[in-house]
Amino acid sequence: MVIKVNESYWQKTAQKQVYPKINQNKKCDVVIIGGGLTGISLAYRLKDCGLKVIVLEEKEIGSQTSGHTTAKITFLHDLIYTYLNEYYSYHIAKKFFLSNKEAMNDIETIIEKEKIACDYYKNENVLYTFKKENVIKLKQEKELLESFGVKVKENVIKNALYSISIDNQAIFHPLKYLYALASLCRKDGIEIYENSQVKKVHRMKEEFLIDVNSYQVQCSDVVHATRYPFVYKGLYFMKVMAKREYVQYGICENQDRRSLLCVDKKSISQRPVGNGLLEIGKNEVKNPIRWFAMDSETLRLIPYIGKLSKKRNEYIAFGYRKWGMSLSHVASKIIYDDLLEKENKYKALYENHYCSLSLIKKQLPLFMKDIKKGMIDNHFPPSKKLKNNEGAVMKIDGELIAVYKDNHGKCHYMSPYCPHFKCIVQFNNKTKTWDCPCHGSTYDAYGKLINGPSLKNLNNK
Ligand code: FES
Repeated sequence: MVIKVNESYWQKTAQKQVYPKINQNKKCDVVIIGGGLTGISLAYRLKDCGLKVIVLEEKEIGSQTSGHTTAKITFLHDLIYTYLNEYYSYHIAKKFFLSNKEAMNDIETIIEKEKIACDYYKNENVLYTFKKENVIKLKQEKELLESFGVKVKENVIKNALYSISIDNQAIFHPLKYLYALASLCRKDGIEIYENSQVKKVHRMKEEFLIDVNSYQVQCSDVVHATRYPFVYKGLYFMKVMAKREYVQYGICENQDRRSLLCVDKKSISQRPVGNGLLEIGKNEVKNPIRWFAMDSETLRLIPYIGKLSKKRNEYIAFGYRKWGMSLSHVASKIIYDDLLEKENKYKALYENHYCSLSLIKKQLPLFMKDIKKGMIDNHFPPSKKLKNNEGAVMKIDGELIAVYKDNHGKCHYMSPYCPHFKCIVQFNNKTKTWDCPCHGSTYDAYGKLINGPSLKNLNNK
């Protein structure tokens, strides 16, 4: 039996078709790198437009960020409208709202049109706080939402200091949805390849040549639909923070059918799933299935969606701040429209150059904290005696080594330098993984890559 690392409830409960590994050179119009919700929903939108499209997924489709999400389909993204209004403008906040609302409608339309059985369920979405300072912010959020025409209820949670809620938001099974879209794409001639890792994108005069496994794909347009673009162009590794959350699902007495999110510093979130509950930062379920979720957050708070450079048809889409259900569909619509040379009224909002300097100034210390950890602090590991099934970076004969002691007491030695940008990884006892603090690459206890942006395993010693 193959034991899957970090397998989520969604992965355990959806039937997936197998897609082949790329096994020859190819030529097409559009290459989509990444088979998550952005990539697959873009492929779905493109399937009838006459372009030859290839999707290249490093592992299995939906196996990364999309397969580990809490899967709330909502435009209620914690306090986003308050922040956008404060650091940008009311106009920007409203545009962000409208783009996400339209994306939610797109998801519903696709589910209805294709009759996708993905446990889609409309529910109430709640934000709440126990802190005085956040009451003011939540009240601002309410006012902004009401000015956009949304009906907002107040004080819907008994014990909270303040709470607001909105009806007609939704939840679903993200992988039942994603797998259904992928099989519709395949039926209509889109080629999807799994276990096909893109190693490099060569920018030629008129086209792109993409190295994938040991083959090449030639195309005129390329879309990076990964949690974090692995290309260095655009210096995104200096504009994005990696975010990790510990999620669990289990059966629970609590029969609340609403989705709940506490906006206080430590994120606490819940949503129903069938007879059970999926939760972050809570401990109400019995015999939980646990996993961790990764996402990226841009310093400017608005995701980067659009062309990497004005001259070329090379697109990026990432930085969803854990709100990837609606934002993946915002992204796929913007890129779809651009590829087909259609107007899109939200394109300018998500473009690459757009930023608020005061916001970046506020976010920068958080970003620098992670970088400092990986580049400086982790160079000086405390001495540690390892127990079985534990790891640590150690100084051995003057050299830094990542050591994992397995369940039988055998030590495995690896280089602690993350192949992405040479930050020093650290052992995470909760997940038994090596995590890179700089941009979130994750490796299993033996150094095998689980999540990028790194493209390689840790080197053995
Ligand atoms: Fe970037 Fe490790 S240095 S993920």
